[in-house]
Amino acid sequence: MSAELDGLQAAIEDALLHFLPQRSPIAQALLEAMRYAALGGGKRFRPLLTCAACTAFGGRAEDALPPACAVEFIHAYSLVHDDLPAMDDAALRRGAPSCHAAHGEALAILAGDALQTLAFSTLAASAAPAETRLAAVGVLAEASGWRGMAGGQCFDLASVGRALSLPDLHALHGAKTGALIAASVRLGALFANAGEEPQALAGAFGSRVGLAFQIMDDVLDVVGDSATLGKSTKSDEQAGKCTFATVMGVDAARAKAESVMGEAQELLRQAGLQHSLLARLGGRAVNRSH
Ligand code: IPE
Ligand code: IPE
Ligand code: MG
Ligand code: MG
Ligand code: MG
Repeated sequence: MSAELDGLQAAIEDALLHFLPQRSPIAQALLEAMRYAALGGGKRFRPLLTCAACTAFGGRAEDALPPACAVEFIHAYSLVHDDLPAMDDAALRRGAPSCHAAHGEALAILAGDALQTLAFSTLAASAAPAETRLAAVGVLAEASGWRGMAGGQCFDLASVGRALSLPDLHALHGAKTGALIAASVRLGALFANAGEEPQALAGAFGSRVGLAFQIMDDVLDVVGDSATLGKSTKSDEQAGKCTFATVMGVDAARAKAESVMGEAQELLRQAGLQHSLLARLGGRAVNRSH
């Protein structure tokens, strides 16, 4: 998209490599599964948001690399567990066999567990002031846990075969995907040393971007191309999942994603950030083929 984003993505790939352990005297197979899950491609949308938010709120992108990697580790863990037979039972992820298909279920479960804790140790060990690190741990835990991603995944599974209302679907998508994307943006503002008000703005922008992102994921599951997406398509309907695409139809769902994204961009415009890298990157939630 732009040289700036390409440069940032390269810095994120380097930082992920740096933070992922390489050698264990007792559990090398676990590290291989963790590295497989975290390094095998992916758009890096969340860590890019963290770095772009840091610059939008007056910080330096490199200072946001630890929280950027932390959110990507949580995301990678969530994908590994999402693909397990007990959840979505998906064989393909990022154009390759999913983690359990390549490494077995037991190691995939453990790799998810260890990626989750690696996220928090990465935050705890960063060079930011102790107060910032403590706040960051709270933000990431809240977004990942029972009220955020894990809670949303529970809601997702509990709603198989049921028709959800639109408010319920908002709540589901807000928790399973919106919360972590909102945290990604908020952590960037936090590591820029932004005050409470800009952090709240970052969170509000991020939760709309996250909602739009998951609606588009639902749309791409119906209209996307498996080779481009790197995962199976039509899986939501086959699994009896209720999504924006199954409830509203693809065109209305796409229009909904665009209107939510419009709200997100309006928030940045009001803050004078409409030309920022963050604004351009946010647009990728909707304008994408994978
Ligand atoms: C897929 O996320 C799962 C969702 C929460 C929608 P991404 O589309 O960001 O997956 P990668 O990281 O690019 O593989
Ligand atoms: C996953 O949603 C959300 C997560 C928290 C991992 P999906 O189940 O729709 O994600 P994909 O389509 O498998 O990537
Ligand atoms: Mg799922
Ligand atoms: Mg899935
Ligand atoms: Mg999906």
